[in-house]
Amino acid sequence: MLIGQHTKEVDNTVKQRECEQILLPMKEEKLKINNRRYLGSKYKLLDFISNVVRENCPQVSSVADIFGGTGVVADRFNKEGKNVIVNDILYSNYLAYLTWFGKEEINIGKIEKLIGEFNECNPIGENYVSINFGGTYFTKHNARKIGFIREEIEKMSNELSNREKALLITSLIYAMDKVANTVGHYDAYRRKLDTLNELRLLVPELNDELNEGNEIYREDANELVRTIRADLFYIDTPYNSRQYGDAYHLLENIAEWKKPELVGVAKKMVDRSHIKSPYCTMKATSAFKDLISNINGKYILVSYNNMAQKGVGRSNAKISSEEIVEILETRGPVKIFEKDFQPFTAGKTSIDDHKEILYLCTVDR
Ligand SMILES: C[S@@+](CC[C@H](N)C(=O)[O-])C[C@H]1O[C@@H](n2cnc3c(N)ncnc32)[C@H](O)[C@@H]1O
Repeated sequence: MLIGQHTKEVDNTVKQRECEQILLPMKEEKLKINNRRYLGSKYKLLDFISNVVRENCPQVSSVADIFGGTGVVADRFNKEGKNVIVNDILYSNYLAYLTWFGKEEINIGKIEKLIGEFNECNPIGENYVSINFGGTYFTKHNARKIGFIREEIEKMSNELSNREKALLITSLIYAMDKVANTVGHYDAYRRKLDTLNELRLLVPELNDELNEGNEIYREDANELVRTIRADLFYIDTPYNSRQYGDAYHLLENIAEWKKPELVGVAKKMVDRSHIKSPYCTMKATSAFKDLISNINGKYILVSYNNMAQKGVGRSNAKISSEEIVEILETRGPVKIFEKDFQPFTAGKTSIDDHKEILYLCTVDR
């Protein structure tokens, strides 16, 4: 008898749920900060990083992520209630930070309407993007759409706040990544154009209530550290000769929208001098020394991995593990934490025994 009653109850609940599913409007998928491919993204290491900080760094209420990349590390600390300072030399990343970490008010109704209209557009004329990147990095149709949408955003500059404009460009850049005929960066496109999905922009999921105390920069980290203070500095430099400004030139081109002259098969901007990093050159160790000596904070947390030995090859590390420890020890005692990790290597062979390493320096001098 009891079993019968129980079964009946379950039946009703299931029916009720089915009805709710039918009656509720389809929930539109929201864009999240980690919905993009990025070389060296620490998204899968967030728990590791967060645990090391929680267990070893008492009284941290502000974190500076000064080689921010996607911004996922700053995002984790922001969601843990800390104020964040986030910075990168790439303009495309800076625009993403305004979106995710900014405090300027957003008219979300206006944004939803514009994104809806952008997704419906079907431009037929050629433009800068379709001429240069159509049929290679993107289908001709998607390339026309990207160029058209980016131009529309530019034309609307006067009707948009800085942050609204940044948000629309960020939404476009994330959508491009989803339909790009690449292995995750723009050093090259794949020979066969088989990424045929339609470009679709999404409305970002915002958590503005967390953003009041945040600061956002686009500066050389070595210059920036001379002017800011935070309890903890998270340092995640590029570690080999691969320039991020080369790997993400196309996104940078769309972000800046100066429609420059392009070179080579990969169609990179001729002048990329402003987005070259010393951390990808022979100057890496001296740049790191200078950076560490100018940090004004209680803790310095450095990310590194054992994928490459220091050397001269393109994928070889520019700074050795020993140099990192030696330089950090000029500021205080250093603890090392390791985690096995399978990284995003952009289609390259997987590396056995890959370890992601965190060096934690407690600053006392
Ligand atoms: C390893 S990635 C950071 C990845 C990031 N932690 C994440 O999880 O997405 C290194 C970043 O440093 C930036 N960068 C390189 N040199 C820089 C410099 N001198 N100042 C500021 N940012 C720099 C690059 O543009 C790149 O985004």
